Amino acid sequence: MAAQREHFGSGMAAVMAMAGSAIGLGNIWRFPYVVGQNGGAAFILVYLLCMVFLSLPIFLSEAIIGRSTHSSTFGAFGKLAPGSGWKWIGTLTIITPLIILSYYSVVGGWSIGFLYESVVMGFSGAGADGRFGGFISSVGGPLVCHTLFLALTAAIVLGGVKSGIERFNKMSMPLLFVLIVIIAVYSISLPGASAGVKYLVKPDFSLLTPKSFAYAMGQGFFSLSLGVGTILTYSSYMKKEESILRTGVGTAGFDLLFALIAGFAVMPAVFSAGIEPGAGPGLIFETLPYIFGKMGAAAPAASRAVSILFFLTIVIAALTSSISMFEVGAAYLVEEKGMSRRKAVAVIFTGTWALGVLCSLSFGPLGDFHIAGKTIFNFCDALTSNFLMTFGALLFVLFVGWKMDRETVRSEFTNGGALPLSRLLFKPVMFLIRWVAPVAIVLIFITNLL
Ligand code: TRP
Repeated sequence: MAAQREHFGSGMAAVMAMAGSAIGLGNIWRFPYVVGQNGGAAFILVYLLCMVFLSLPIFLSEAIIGRSTHSSTFGAFGKLAPGSGWKWIGTLTIITPLIILSYYSVVGGWSIGFLYESVVMGFSGAGADGRFGGFISSVGGPLVCHTLFLALTAAIVLGGVKSGIERFNKMSMPLLFVLIVIIAVYSISLPGASAGVKYLVKPDFSLLTPKSFAYAMGQGFFSLSLGVGTILTYSSYMKKEESILRTGVGTAGFDLLFALIAGFAVMPAVFSAGIEPGAGPGLIFETLPYIFGKMGAAAPAASRAVSILFFLTIVIAALTSSISMFEVGAAYLVEEKGMSRRKAVAVIFTGTWALGVLCSLSFGPLGDFHIAGKTIFNFCDALTSNFLMTFGALLFVLFVGWKMDRETVRSEFTNGGALPLSRLLFKPVMFLIRWVAPVAIVLIFITNLL
């Protein structure tokens, strides 16, 4: 086991890193659409409730495990429950983030490709739509971009916890907020934008269905990077004097704030162009380039500037998330397998790169190859988002709620009793971890299966 372990320099640095992991593609391409489809402000209310009663308890459970052991996911369960079957959670939580990283890196690559296009030529009105389909189904371009994105991720992780991950997040997070605010202000100022604002804020309780709750929970999981050990790993780099509760609330708060601003950056522009908002990659890679193209006819310089800012935002947001997935595996190989950081990074790069290549090709030449009726990319996404993440989250809360020694949990959560607010909230938080979260997770799981 490594003798010297690195730590984040401060509580703020830890929050920045975790918010960096949390804020990503999920905030930009999923949140605005899900909100609009499920009743606007009414859904945001549900999302908030889910965050407090479900996402936060899972976050806190992961953080308690990580910080109390200062270990990688695998080592953590070995220390807390030696010789028991729980150590297999460790294995699960090393594999899951690496599968997510493989396909996430393909999408990160697309955003590099579109950033490049914005810089060299901007999006011209005619033919801007449809270009996305052409790009992702080709072979060379997406593979070069995927490789570049993963190499950037690897380079940051290679720098280590403090001078790689912490430094990158500390620079990027404030920049991301500035960028997304600029884009939102511009978007809201477009003619006809108010329909988009309405789409997001007008509470329509009639659109809330039981499925909306499942969406809110699923979105909360993905957006806060829960259930796969990224929060556990980052928490293991937190110093003993930082507050776990404050870190959790801070991270969730930033994540929600960013998602809301991203909604105001995307939807008003979509409505201003008179388009029906769609979900997923199509929203940011098809609809928006089309809009930039339309704007470009009237104001080429402004259109190009905004598209550059927009895709730059996406690249940075995706990078701060991808490094958190990469680090889970890197920490494991360094601490449990005694590899040098350099070698660990090389091993993970190679494995995720190869799986990512298959994911990327599944939009083109490998499009007819199906696993369980899905393309490789969609299979990796569904396997992780619907199954492995939910399962991981369930195991985390069960472990902290029912298996881990109660005094260890209390002491970790309250810093040995030194934090009055955490002391006060310990009981209710434990109730959420032991009862509310496991029941809710099982319910989402069943809803997803149906
Ligand atoms: N939360 C990130 C987003 O919103 C993605 C992410 C990072 C993630 N790490 C994760 C998702 C771990 C699931 C699991 O885009």
